[in-house]
Amino acid sequence: MKKKTVKIGIFGGYRGSHYYKNLMANNGEIVAVCDMNEKYAKKAQAMLGEDVAIYKSFDELIEHPGLEAILLSNYFHEHAPYAIRALERGIHVLSECTSNGTMAEGVALVRAAEKSKAIYMLAENYPFMLFNQEMHRIYRGGTLGNLIFAEGEYNHPISPDDNLDYYVSLCPSSKHWRYLLPRTYYVTHALAPLMYITGAFPKRVSAMCAMDPVPEDKNAFQRGVPERAAIILTQNSDGSVFRVTGCAGYGHHENSYRICGKRGQVENLRDHSENILLSYNAWETPEGEPTSRIYKPVLDDKDKALIEKAGHGGGDFFVAREFFDCIREGRRPEFDVYFSTAMASVAILAHRSMLEGGTPYDIPDFRKEEDRVRYENDTASPFWGTDGTPPSLPASRMADYHTLTEEGCARYDALVEAYNKAQEQA
Ligand SMILES: NC(=O)c1ccc[n+]([C@@H]2O[C@H](COP(=O)([O-])OP(=O)(O)OC[C@H]3O[C@@H](n4cnc5c(N)ncnc54)[C@H](O)[C@@H]3O)[C@@H](O)[C@H]2O)c1
Repeated sequence: MKKKTVKIGIFGGYRGSHYYKNLMANNGEIVAVCDMNEKYAKKAQAMLGEDVAIYKSFDELIEHPGLEAILLSNYFHEHAPYAIRALERGIHVLSECTSNGTMAEGVALVRAAEKSKAIYMLAENYPFMLFNQEMHRIYRGGTLGNLIFAEGEYNHPISPDDNLDYYVSLCPSSKHWRYLLPRTYYVTHALAPLMYITGAFPKRVSAMCAMDPVPEDKNAFQRGVPERAAIILTQNSDGSVFRVTGCAGYGHHENSYRICGKRGQVENLRDHSENILLSYNAWETPEGEPTSRIYKPVLDDKDKALIEKAGHGGGDFFVAREFFDCIREGRRPEFDVYFSTAMASVAILAHRSMLEGGTPYDIPDFRKEEDRVRYENDTASPFWGTDGTPPSLPASRMADYHTLTEEGCARYDALVEAYNKAQEQA
């Protein structure tokens, strides 16, 4: 039987466009796309046809007749206010990471989701990568024993020399969130897989950052903070400990995860093979299994062909399918508002910990009113708001690092402008 169509609007046309095929493959009807940048409006019509409505403002998008759901792929730190507006109108929300840019927004988002009949889900795709699903299956099977320790790394170095076009489009100004992104903030790709695999929830966090300040170069597109990686420790609900990175930039590009139980451990290999290594203590190896083996998990899914074509190791397809299945079945997704805001709290409080040299912070439980009250007015943020609100927290331990000074920001903006002009003339 054909699944019911869900009328969905997209807010943010770059990342949003990566979801078009996955949404449509799951019988989503993309009725509108909103981006203030005309380039993405044109791209949307080229990909979706002239019938799709194009808007420049969220105010127009949310008024689209019959809109049932929305994908938030606007700026990283500005998802919560739009999610809240949609939830208040009973519109289902699929939000890119992170769910909230400030602690106060986390509280407001949880309150709005509890009041709404609509579904809230974080579009976190890394847990659905094949090796993570296999680690989920193994851990939940029980042979590894109780969780003791797990590691998650999202390591995404970018060379500014390879492709300046890509680099400038990722970070078009010194006020863009990527320019100032503290290393702890993009934590979901490292942390969500561990929470999904093990069911453990972070309760306390502490962080330190690995520094790599580089000399000032007045002719280069230097941006960002001098920290290269956040090393974040969380103490969890079940007594275990996670060690995760935010978005790190060291060594070679990879995501890796390792789950250590009392009796054995499982991890994906850091060689892009999607292979996993499963090993047990010799005296605790399950009957009939080798003590240690490396293998590539097999994808066994009715939508195999579509998953193999989807971005992020198939993760984008699973996100779209899960979101629509939850809407159609009236089911709460695993990556709900509590799961999402707990991760955002780790990101935000780990940054404060890092600024203070490692002070531990308790992760609030936003199911509890006393924890909400504690944070409901905490609006501190290292980012610029689109409305021109300046950052209220330093992005780095080295607040006077050359890219973060007024002069360094102006230099970056001038280089981007000159680059864009040269591209137009070419
Ligand atoms: N899960 C993943 O694998 C993955 C991959 C890439 C990006 N993302 C996430 O997607 C989101 C978007 O990232 P991006 O890479 O597309 O870059 P981006 O943040 O630069 O793009 C945001 C887009 O939204 C538009 N926008 C923002 N505010 C708007 C407003 N008020 N009105 C109209 N348009 C507005 C901008 O013009 C821009 O085109 C971020 O949260 C990012 O973390 C996730």
